[in-house]
Amino acid sequence: MSTPPEPHVPVMLAETLAWLAPAPGKVIVDATVGAGGHAAALLSAVGPTGRVVGIDRDPEALSLAEARLRAVCDERRWPSPYPFALARGDFRHLRAVLAQLGVERAAGVLFDLGASSMQLDRVERGFTFRADAPLDMRMDPDEPTTAAHLVNTLPEAELAALLRDYGEERHARAIARAIVARRPLRTTRQLMEICARVYPPRERREEKIHPATRAFQALRIAVNRELEALPPALADAVDLLATGGRVVVLAYHSLEDRIVKREFQYLAGRCRCPKELPACICGARPRLRILTPKPVLPAPEEVRANPRARSARLRAAEKLGDEGTEGQTENQARRMSAAPPTLPRHPPQRVLGRTHRGAHRAVPSA
Ligand SMILES: C[S@@+](CC[C@H](N)C(=O)[O-])C[C@H]1O[C@@H](n2cnc3c(N)ncnc32)[C@H](O)[C@@H]1O
Repeated sequence: MSTPPEPHVPVMLAETLAWLAPAPGKVIVDATVGAGGHAAALLSAVGPTGRVVGIDRDPEALSLAEARLRAVCDERRWPSPYPFALARGDFRHLRAVLAQLGVERAAGVLFDLGASSMQLDRVERGFTFRADAPLDMRMDPDEPTTAAHLVNTLPEAELAALLRDYGEERHARAIARAIVARRPLRTTRQLMEICARVYPPRERREEKIHPATRAFQALRIAVNRELEALPPALADAVDLLATGGRVVVLAYHSLEDRIVKREFQYLAGRCRCPKELPACICGARPRLRILTPKPVLPAPEEVRANPRARSARLRAAEKLGDEGTEGQTENQARRMSAAPPTLPRHPPQRVLGRTHRGAHRAVPSA
């Protein structure tokens, strides 16, 4: 049943490099190194005097990244030890993972969120309903919770909440009811057939996506606890950055993009206390300058060439210095900071809100 994984094509590579601004001699952390597509370009940019540190929780991804980064060094005949390091770990513990590698400061941190093409396309990993396989969906194969475990053990109401909250699935309750009636579920096809049966025929015909897409997205997010990891990871990334260092995040559905936006706003100094409180207790203080008030979207040519890029949204921010920002508001900090030295190839005109009006929905990737 094994399928050779498709090579993962790095999404918004030119824009990522432009916003991250890697320069010779700098240390850049790729917190989601995957197959090393972005990391290879970052390594070329920082050169033999800099360093790229890549993290992933998927050991298969780390092997691919290692081969790719070695090839960059071999091609350029850089002397060993090569200027990169890879570590298996969850970016929710970013600070601890980097401390083990002796990394205390970085000029840039990249998060390219979600699953890679290799994970999605490797049928036996159970991320896709395009073929039958065990309902797995773990990015880290050593984690105990699989998608099968969740669908077979969660109470119906919790399952419905999961499908609604992480998949924005409007038939969440009906799908949860059908799952519970059909337990135990073992394979991707069983789940896919349940979703297809629950959807009314007219909706099935009119929907652009398969009726199982949202349920698969929801389970993948839950199995890998994708959303919970973001706030602590972004806070750690900001701690790690040197003054003027950049953090760049590529998100692929509106739930994670919304979290990135809110965390950036908080780290830029916006108070998140309830309005009723007489004084701020959330500890907000400006530590970041947001460089992309709206997310940057991929160019239409990229989406044509790589449909997986279609839902990408890039956000970037820059670390403020400790002096001079104490007590500033987000707006004061923004006014004091200079314009970004390197403009992206596709500057942020292609922002959400101009292309899509009103509230945006999750764009599922399964
Ligand atoms: C979209 S891929 C990255 C692709 C990469 N930028 C490239 O060009 O090849 C996302 C990667 O992040 C990893 N990942 C997702 N969540 C993670 C987490 N919390 N900690 C560590 N790695 C994670 C996944 O295993 C996957 O390999």
